[in-house]
Amino acid sequence: TKNNPTVFIIFGGTGDLNARKLAPALYNLFLDNWLPKQFSIIGTGRTKLSDEDFRKKLLDDINQFSRSGKADKKKWDEFSKNLFYQVSDINDSETYKEFGKRVEAHNTEWKTKATVIYYMAVSPNFFPIIATNISKAGLAVDPETTRIVIEKPFGHDLETAKELNQLLAGIFNEKQIYRIDHYLGKETVQNIMAFRFANSILEPIWNRNYIEHVQISVTEQLGVEERGDYYDGAGALRDMIQNHLLQLLCLVAMETPVNFSADEVRNRKVDVLHAMRKFSPDDVRMSAVRGQYGKGWMEGKEVAGYREEPKVDKDSNTETFAAVKFFVDNWRWQGIPFYLRTGKRLHQTASVITIQFKDVPHKVFPTEAAESWQQNRLIISIQPEMSIRLQVQAKRPGLDMILNTVDMVFDYKGTYTAQAPEAYETLLLDTMLGDQTLFMRGDQVEAAWELIMPILSTWTNKKSLNFPNYSANSWGPESAEALIARDGFNWFSLP
Ligand code: BG6
Repeated sequence: TKNNPTVFIIFGGTGDLNARKLAPALYNLFLDNWLPKQFSIIGTGRTKLSDEDFRKKLLDDINQFSRSGKADKKKWDEFSKNLFYQVSDINDSETYKEFGKRVEAHNTEWKTKATVIYYMAVSPNFFPIIATNISKAGLAVDPETTRIVIEKPFGHDLETAKELNQLLAGIFNEKQIYRIDHYLGKETVQNIMAFRFANSILEPIWNRNYIEHVQISVTEQLGVEERGDYYDGAGALRDMIQNHLLQLLCLVAMETPVNFSADEVRNRKVDVLHAMRKFSPDDVRMSAVRGQYGKGWMEGKEVAGYREEPKVDKDSNTETFAAVKFFVDNWRWQGIPFYLRTGKRLHQTASVITIQFKDVPHKVFPTEAAESWQQNRLIISIQPEMSIRLQVQAKRPGLDMILNTVDMVFDYKGTYTAQAPEAYETLLLDTMLGDQTLFMRGDQVEAAWELIMPILSTWTNKKSLNFPNYSANSWGPESAEALIARDGFNWFSLP
């Protein structure tokens, strides 16, 4: 429960994820009274730091990255006395004995058995050795109180994902394993289920009889930044489609769960992945498009092409853009295309799901009246704009009968004053509470890998000859337009 004393042990304590996301999230949970009275956050890494150094570092990070702005002195003092640092060598059993001692000391002090959360904010190469050593030190024996949080990437392909699942399954119960997909923690993403399943007007039309196609677009203006060493071995398909975009697709396409329990929800989501049409090599050619950015101008500055970025192979074959057309072969969705696209160094940063409904069966208005006719669309904006809008036709005021498209809008800014919590606040809280609904189960991860493997192997085996094929600040390669235009549609411009 919320009040159970908790110890966080963060591997990668001096790293980027802790600085930007975890520490600010924990601090905001503290400010909003979501942390138990007794808690302890132990950062660990190779660098030698004192507790004081570590606290200073996190204070700087929080001042820079927290949604609540600069930390308040009094609050910070209260919070930071629970922060500790332990230098570690993840290969050395002594390191883990030390964690064990610290947990024991807390248990004695708090006169209870604390929940212990091991957070893997490190490179995935280290997941297996850390998990194994946690187990060898006897730190994972109590499934009720110990949990492990695994950051992405979960595997490099289907085979390595399976290996990692097997290794973890040898140490932990599934209910102790929290695989992060941070998109699932986003406020607007959680709202997709609320919107679909708490309203009676949607279900009757949420199917192939009324929906013509679905678009899921996650575009970013940022380039690869300093992450070339990871990204050049990954690419957009692994980095975004395998996890975030397919999870969004599952939320749109899933059947109604019977209740909101973690496994019920995850069963309905994994059903979608199982129903998705498998790609043959021919399908890959027809239904999947890749791109890589070249240089270009963004906000008045010339930016480098992907191959010129730090730690990227000068001859890289890695895609920084991917667009894929998927089908879900079940009764609800048979024949309805789901177009997914994502990329870096694109013209706009926006994550948007658009549901396009079929046209009216018969138009009663004269052509002049309906010049700007547009089929109904439901637009779910995840970020940066947070809104849901339904586009409908309406009569423009005036003496003539002219129709135009108008928006019925629910937007967060106009509706709520409270700031939405960050994804990591939700997810860290859920790991404390023991709620796995928003985490990836092992079989989900594998099903998603299985689906994209044919595309991955085709792209790996066949070098793209025309990279770079889009310039920074564009909408991606022309072939992405062609992919959707062949079906008579186009990518919607974003709100
Ligand atoms: C991460 C990817 O999982 O998600 C990054 O590794 C990407 O490449 C990021 O930039 C996008 O997340 P958000 O929350 O900024 O949309």
